[in-house]
Amino acid sequence: MIIAVDGPAASGKGTIARALAKHYGLPYLDTGLLYRAVALSVARMGLDPETEADAVAACDFSDALLSDPALRDDEIGALASVVSAHPLVRAALLHRQKRFAAQEGGAILDGRDIGTVIAPDADAKLFVKATPNIRAQRRHAELQARGGTASKDRVLADIRARDARDSGRSTAPLVMAADAALLDTSFLSIEASVQRAVALVEAQRAKK
Ligand code: DC
Repeated sequence: MIIAVDGPAASGKGTIARALAKHYGLPYLDTGLLYRAVALSVARMGLDPETEADAVAACDFSDALLSDPALRDDEIGALASVVSAHPLVRAALLHRQKRFAAQEGGAILDGRDIGTVIAPDADAKLFVKATPNIRAQRRHAELQARGGTASKDRVLADIRARDARDSGRSTAPLVMAADAALLDTSFLSIEASVQRAVALVEAQRAKK
């Protein structure tokens, strides 16, 4: 079984995807980490994230980088959104994601284009969303817990900018797949969101 989970930043898709992976015993890939790794490499190599050739040169990162705590920084998330708009960066990361999705026994992946590009034939597709305000609140609380000092308004502005960039790019934009089930987590607890996610996956599997 392949499960595709897409949605904007801080929608809760990562938490839900991890819980689903545990529930179904499936290997899980957070594809945002790949773009974050490119972003971190660009930054560390002193390259320009807006320049496609620079971003492509950073796609050859080592697997060790995928466990670097700096990947979780909000600045790296914003840079990831910039480098991920380059078609050649997406092409460089495509094969790895498709291979993960196609492994025997199935897989679960989360990102922006899993249900549309990486695994269009997934057995179940979820599109997770929440209002920008609620996502900003969650992200702000998360950052504060890690000692961050950004204001909530700043976090909200960043989220809106990231949404605009991820949805507005021409290659593999953030868009809900026609056959995805929508899960709005705005007013749901984590437990309720996960329960709902399992119910939606089961409903989609029953239809296949
Ligand atoms: O999910 P995240 O916040 O870790 O993702 C960081 C950025 O990477 C996101 O703003 C856009 C990009 N991304 C993408 O373009 N496609 C994906 N499948 C996953 C992430």
